[in-house]
Amino acid sequence: MRTIFWEDCIKMIDQTLLPETFKILEIRSVDELIEAIKRLAIRGAPALEAAGGYGVVLATREKKFEDFEEFKDYVKERANQLANARPTAVNLGVGVERVLKKVFEASSIEEARKKALEEAEKIAEEDIIRNKLMGGFGAKLIEDGDSILTICNTGSLATVEWGTALGVIKSAKLEGKNVRVFACETRPLNQGSRLTTWELLRDGIDVILITDSMAGIVMQKEMVDKVIVGADRIVRDGFFNKIGTYTLAVLAKEHGIPFFVAAPLTTFDWEKKMEDVVIEERSADELKYCHVKCRSCIIAPENVKVYNPAFDPTPFKYVTALITEKGVIFPPYEREVPKILKLRK
Ligand code: MRU
Repeated sequence: MRTIFWEDCIKMIDQTLLPETFKILEIRSVDELIEAIKRLAIRGAPALEAAGGYGVVLATREKKFEDFEEFKDYVKERANQLANARPTAVNLGVGVERVLKKVFEASSIEEARKKALEEAEKIAEEDIIRNKLMGGFGAKLIEDGDSILTICNTGSLATVEWGTALGVIKSAKLEGKNVRVFACETRPLNQGSRLTTWELLRDGIDVILITDSMAGIVMQKEMVDKVIVGADRIVRDGFFNKIGTYTLAVLAKEHGIPFFVAAPLTTFDWEKKMEDVVIEERSADELKYCHVKCRSCIIAPENVKVYNPAFDPTPFKYVTALITEKGVIFPPYEREVPKILKLRK
C-alpha cells in the first residue's frame, strides 16, 4: 500500500478517516500540506520525510516567477514554514532540506522544478527500499511463534510503503514465521487502534488490541516476547517516539523482555541530546473529545486543564538494539552508532 505519491500534485491517504473511510487526498499547495501535517492526515516520521520533499516541489510550482533569485527566496521561505509544521520528528526537515538543496544547485526555474521533483521521488523510492532492508535485518531477531508488543503506527501508513517496526514484523511473517502482535491503542489519537490493527488485519497478521494501560499486565502474564517500536528522532543519549513508548521500555526492562527500535538512518540526529529536542504539545481537545474535529462526545469537563505531549524520550539504557537499513546496532551505542552513520549518504 502506497501512502504518499506524486501525480501532478501530492496524493496521500487521509489517515484521520481510517479505519472507517479510505480516501486519497489531493494536496496542491504548501498551505494545504502544512494543514494536513498538523492534523495528522499524513504522519509517521518517514512518511513526513517524503511529504517534506514533495512539499518543496509544490513550493516550486505554486506561483509564477520571472526572476530566479526571487523564486529561490520564495521557495526557501515556504520550505522553512513546511519544515516547522511539526517539531519532533527529524525526518520532515531532512526531506525538505534535501529537495531545497537541489533547487539551489539549479541554474534556472525550470531546472529547479525538474530537479526538485526528481529528488522528491528519490526520497520516496529510497524509503521503500531501506524499509525492506531494515525488515530483513529485524526479522532475524524474531522467532517463530513470537508475540510482539508495539505502539502507535509504524507500518505502511507511517512510511511510503512498507514500514519500520511493523515492516520488521511483516518481513518476519514473509519469512514464514508465525507472529502475533499486541497493538497499544495509542491515546489520544489512536494511531494504534485505528491504523495499526487495520493494517495488520489487511496483511493477515494476528493482532490483539489493548489499551496503553494494559501493557503491564500482558508483560506480567508473560504474553509478550519482544517489544518493537519506531522512532521520530534518535539522539546521542536516547530516542523519541510516540507518547507511551518510555512506559513500555521501563516495563520491558522490569520484565526482562527485549526492547527494539526500528528506524532508518535519516531518523538519527547524533549531534543532539534528549534535552535539545522540542516535544510537540497538541491541543487539549484531543483529550476532551472523542471527535476532535467537531468537538463532540465529551469525555472530560470542558474547563479541565490538560497536558498533552505527543512524544516522550526514552534513554538508551532501556534499548536492546537499534534496527536500521544498514544492520542491527547493539550497545554501546556511543561507539557503534557513528560506525553505521558513516555509511549514510
Ligand atoms: O504523531 P505521529 O503519528 O506522527 O507519531 C508517529 C510515531 O511516533 C511513530 O512511531 C514514528 O514516527 C515512527 S514511524 C515509522
